[in-house]
Amino acid sequence: TTVSLLGVPIEVGASQKGALMGPAALRTAGIAQLLESLDFKVEDHGDIAPRELSFSDEAPPANAKHYREIKAWICETSRRAYAMARSGAIPIFLGGDHSLSMGSVNGVARHWHEQERELFVLWLDAHADYNTPATTITGNMHGMSGAFLCGEPGLDDLLPQSERSSIVTRQLGLFGLRSVDKKEKELLAQRDVWIADMRRIDEFGVSVLMREFIERVRARSGVLHVSLDVDFLDPVSAPGVGTTVSGGATYREAHLVMEMLQDSGLVRSLDLVELNPFLDNRGLTARTVVELVGSLFGQQIHDRPTPSNAVV
Ligand code: ARG
Ligand code: MN
Ligand code: MN
Ligand code: MN
Repeated sequence: TTVSLLGVPIEVGASQKGALMGPAALRTAGIAQLLESLDFKVEDHGDIAPRELSFSDEAPPANAKHYREIKAWICETSRRAYAMARSGAIPIFLGGDHSLSMGSVNGVARHWHEQERELFVLWLDAHADYNTPATTITGNMHGMSGAFLCGEPGLDDLLPQSERSSIVTRQLGLFGLRSVDKKEKELLAQRDVWIADMRRIDEFGVSVLMREFIERVRARSGVLHVSLDVDFLDPVSAPGVGTTVSGGATYREAHLVMEMLQDSGLVRSLDLVELNPFLDNRGLTARTVVELVGSLFGQQIHDRPTPSNAVV
């Protein structure tokens, strides 16, 4: 199997600068070598370069900071994502802030839609990223990706209609949630998004909840995109992110999530977002993220038999 790496060094979707260094840090932490050691063929497509971006001159909507620049990134990211998914490779998007997922998920969803497969999206994040320009407090577009992908109104011209591929809310799962804005919460309450917030994770544990989500994907013969926001993790293991929230997934919990995803055989694409090496402690966060990628792609402490319920 081929894994395609694509760097998307976008940072203007977040309030803090520095996420543009994320792709370089993930490469320095050895993401390509690790995947090769797990017998994947790795094709590094480099970073999307700003000169490939064309800026539109439409009037941007209110409450969406850096709309035009983000639009340019998203359009290009979506096209690249679509082409990579279509090639049969497993694309990994190296961020960059979480606004990039508007493009990456749209592009892979477009491919799976053509294949008549339902694409589920597992959003590993402290935040819901379910704001729209009408609900946001900050105007930061990295807090709007999930809502955009589910077709919530307010950013309708971000992608050309012919390239747009929304998912429906039942295909989205939020895991690790512990920071939601008031209006965002009200909007989410009206939608059937699957949510495992930290309260549920405390009570039931990762394994019960992951099985529940994986079962939802299987029940519809779906495939899965994983969108890993570094702030999903507790700041103790992952300080290198602009929006840390205490009480996050521990190192062990996060590895178990990845191992169960690997066992499921359902994952077809991945975002690694919000890594901010400028805020980090000697590369600790990048190394933690790369270790998690190892577990997601089959690295095991001790070789286990494939679980009988896995899709091979
Ligand atoms: N809900 C807040 C906002 O809308 C925080 C979003 C944080 N998102 C992220 N991708 N880190 O600004
Ligand atoms: Mn977040
Ligand atoms: Mn996020
Ligand atoms: Mn591991």
